[in-house]
Order: sequence, then structure tokens, then C-alpha cells
Amino acid sequence: MKDFIITTSQSLTPDLENTALKLSEELNVPYINRNKKSLTQITNNPFVLVVTRQKLILKTPSGDFFFHPNMAQLRIKNLREGKKDFMVEAAALKKGDSFIDCTLGLGSDALVASYVTGREGEVVGIESIPVIALLTEMGFLQYPWPNERMRITAKHIKVMRMNHLEFLRTLPDRSFDVVYFDPMFRIPISTSKGISPLREICDANPMNFEAIIEAKRIARKRVVLKETRYSPEFERLGFDHFIGGTYSDFGYGYISIKEEI
Ligand SMILES: C[S@@+](CC[C@H](N)C(=O)[O-])C[C@H]1O[C@@H](n2cnc3c(N)ncnc32)[C@H](O)[C@@H]1O
Repeated sequence: MKDFIITTSQSLTPDLENTALKLSEELNVPYINRNKKSLTQITNNPFVLVVTRQKLILKTPSGDFFFHPNMAQLRIKNLREGKKDFMVEAAALKKGDSFIDCTLGLGSDALVASYVTGREGEVVGIESIPVIALLTEMGFLQYPWPNERMRITAKHIKVMRMNHLEFLRTLPDRSFDVVYFDPMFRIPISTSKGISPLREICDANPMNFEAIIEAKRIARKRVVLKETRYSPEFERLGFDHFIGGTYSDFGYGYISIKEEI
């Protein structure tokens, strides 16, 4: 992740300044007083985290990056209408299950998992880039959700700011039902235009094989990997089942733990 600075929107209030100062300390990133100036007047760093009344926005050269549920709300609506979701199917996810999202990003998949597993379930989302984890964690709490069920679904997700391998190593055998990975695709899907702000700031390292070994030790039901349809990653990492839409560029590989033990 590139270095960045923190400031507030131009209309500064004591509350916004306090939040920006707190985040600057928490993330160990310099705070610059906005003083009613434009961003280019206060810094020449193109990466700026702006604290506004509604949300946190990370300015990057490829555009603004902020929390948004993306496809999660539509996927949840589809599930409510009895349609299937390939991630949920690959994970064989049910109410009451526990789910670790090892690559949280902006948390769309974690939201879907939290909706399916419900109040009795547990969803932990791990993100190694602290500013992404922060945007998502705050977004889960601050986003104007359309209803109480979505608000609770988002609030129920526990966010961890760390590398997933470090976290997985601390967990006991068979302690979560599903361990899920959605790393940045090794070869980005060509229809996506330009570099997305996420690609510019995320951890784009290839999956570490050790994380899969740990995931197989921890999972009770399934380990799931999202990748492009014909990705050699599935074979390299030992995913022997595949689920995906006929016309979709990506899909989900899974390892069924019951078949392995
Ligand atoms: C493709 S995005 C995930 C998108 C997410 N599934 C969603 O629904 O929004 C991949 C995310 O995983 C994070 N990541 C990559 N390697 C990681 C690791 N070893 N530990 C934790 N997070 C990681 C990246 O920084 C990035 O934010």
C-alpha cells in the first residue's frame, strides 16, 4: 500500500477533526489540517484519506475508493426470492454456520455470508491492508442500510486487520465451518476498464499454499476459492470441484473436507 495522508472535508467540525486525528494515530499516518483549502493546496500526495460527515473516502489517482455494498444487496434479494448464489452453493453455507472471509476487501461476500448464516452464525473478515479494513469496518456501521435486517447483517461481521495466514495459524483444528478466499485474480478480467482504485491499494500477492493447508486444518465443511474460470490457481492449490455460471468469467473452486477425512 502506498503512503497516504489524512485530512477532513473542507467544512471542518470539531467532531470530524477528532475522528481524523484518532485515525491518524490508529493508522500511523500524518494528519494535515484542511483549513478550507483544496486537496492540491495541502498536499502533493495523490493518496488522501478524507474524513467527511457521511463516510471515509480514499482519494487515489484512479478514483475515489469508499465503502459500498456493491452486488451484495442484489445477491441477498435474489437469495430471498429463492434464487441460488454460486458462492453460497460452493461453501454449502447454511444458517448457523461459521465463515472466515480471508480476503475481506469491501465486504460484499462477507455480507452475503452474514445474511445466510444469520444471528446464530459467525462471520469473521480478514483484510491485510489497514485502510481497506478500516473503510469496510466503518462502512458496515455507517452505511445507510435500507432496513434493520441489513444493518444487523453488516454489524454482525467481525473485521480483523491482518494477514490471513497469521490469523489462520492461531485457530484450532475444525474451528470454522467454511474458510473462503477471494484474492485479486492472477489475470484481471479484461472487460474491467483501467486500474480500479482497489487494485491500486490492495494486497495483490498470489495465494500462499500454506494458507490453504491451514484452511483445510481449520474448516469443518469446505474451503472455497474464487478465481477466473480456467485459472491454473485451482489446480496449483488443490481445488478439485468447481461451481460457476455458464456465462460467467469467474467461479468458485472448493475442497470438501468430509471427502478428505
Ligand atoms: C478481490 S478483493 C476481495 C473482495 C471481496 N471478496 C468483496 O466481496 O468485496 C481481495 C482483498 O483481499 C485482500 N488480501 C489479499 N491478500 C490478503 C492476505 N494475505 N490477508 C488478508 N487480506 C488479503 C486484498 O487487499 C483485497 O482487499
